[in-house]
Amino acid sequence: MSYERSVSAPDHRFEPETVWNLQMPEIRFGRGAVEELGFQFHDLGVEDGAHGLVVTDETLTDLGHADRVREHLVDAGFDVDVYDDCEREPSLEAVGECLSFVRDEKGEAGYDFYVGFGGGSCLDTAKVTRAVMENGGEPLDYVAEPTGKGKALTQSNVPLVLMPTTAGTGAETSPVAILSVEEKETKEGISSNHVRADAAVLDPTFTTTLPPDITAKTAMDALGHAIEGYTTHQFDDLLRADDPASRPTYAGRTPITDQFSEAAISLLSSNVRQVVNNGDDIEARSAMLQGALFGAIAGLTAGATLCHAMAYPVGNRYHTFHGETIAVLTPASTLGYNAASDPERFARLAEMLGADTTGMSQSEAAEEAKAEYIRLQQDLNVLPSGLNELAGITEDDLDWLAEQTTSTQKRLLRTNPRPVTTEDVHDIFADALYNWE
Ligand SMILES: [Fe+2]
Repeated sequence: MSYERSVSAPDHRFEPETVWNLQMPEIRFGRGAVEELGFQFHDLGVEDGAHGLVVTDETLTDLGHADRVREHLVDAGFDVDVYDDCEREPSLEAVGECLSFVRDEKGEAGYDFYVGFGGGSCLDTAKVTRAVMENGGEPLDYVAEPTGKGKALTQSNVPLVLMPTTAGTGAETSPVAILSVEEKETKEGISSNHVRADAAVLDPTFTTTLPPDITAKTAMDALGHAIEGYTTHQFDDLLRADDPASRPTYAGRTPITDQFSEAAISLLSSNVRQVVNNGDDIEARSAMLQGALFGAIAGLTAGATLCHAMAYPVGNRYHTFHGETIAVLTPASTLGYNAASDPERFARLAEMLGADTTGMSQSEAAEEAKAEYIRLQQDLNVLPSGLNELAGITEDDLDWLAEQTTSTQKRLLRTNPRPVTTEDVHDIFADALYNWE
């Protein structure tokens, strides 16, 4: 087993990791990028007359955005169908419905290419649909054991391009698709480099129609990825991989993820107030989309940590919006409990978030990251003050939440920069009930 923290590794092997890598899709970014979608597919080897599917939701159809995407593809010489029944936080069944649509229309061969267009839920539905059509079977076959069968995915030859319409999840570059498994009240990730898209096309003009509350919630998810990626363990805290293929998907922070994290934290924290209050500001929207992209490249390569681990049981039981859950949990978890793991780094983080730490000691500056983050949330004026306001959660609910976190989220907890017990997680949940009065 190559993936254990060096401090707790079996004693036959103590060699720390010495190599890191960064894998990501081709990226096309900017106003008018949608006009290059046809070029992107030709560049990926798709020929004129090929038949593709746009996977999206009804809101984007109603806004006319899905038609805009379809028309660009038709003008480029392709046939295009649109599937717009994606649901928020997709369940296994919802992705199964998209797969049934594909099999009804095209049989087991499926479409010649796929586009995921929308928020993270649409993008994840498209990722799983392409992967399962290429590998056969059903989504549960590729979910990790014991929930699923844990089968490995292989490389897909059918191109997938993702176009996010929110500055949030980072699903356009990540190697993970998140699905809810309703009978087990849990969320599971299909995590593989073969789930990752071939290209991401990011056009900020699609994000100007997002309402203020969704803008704020998705932004806090993006900021969470950047902060968690910046504060996770370093890549050489793990043992050296036995072979490159066994290196974990979330492999710790590296010099390059730090660069992306730092840029993301500054872009997101300095523009989020503007886009929540003035959604038409295309310059600020563009900065946010860029910040979310950078945050995903950093956080979803280095690895999400304790806050995301705690957010999944909350989201499953109370059906809360993911970014809003991250916003509520970040102060107590990432910026509270984890700050002791590296005060110097958290002091730098406070400055990136916009805090003035002049004259403070290092530990005071590290604590200021949490205070500055809470001030930002309060300024946005659309986010709940804690778990209690988010979903009516009280002390009585915390045993279950803590137990679920430590029993189902081992993948994220294993690489948290500070070890946590179930009792610790209980206390952090308690701290997050009320972030302010
Ligand atoms: Fe997230």
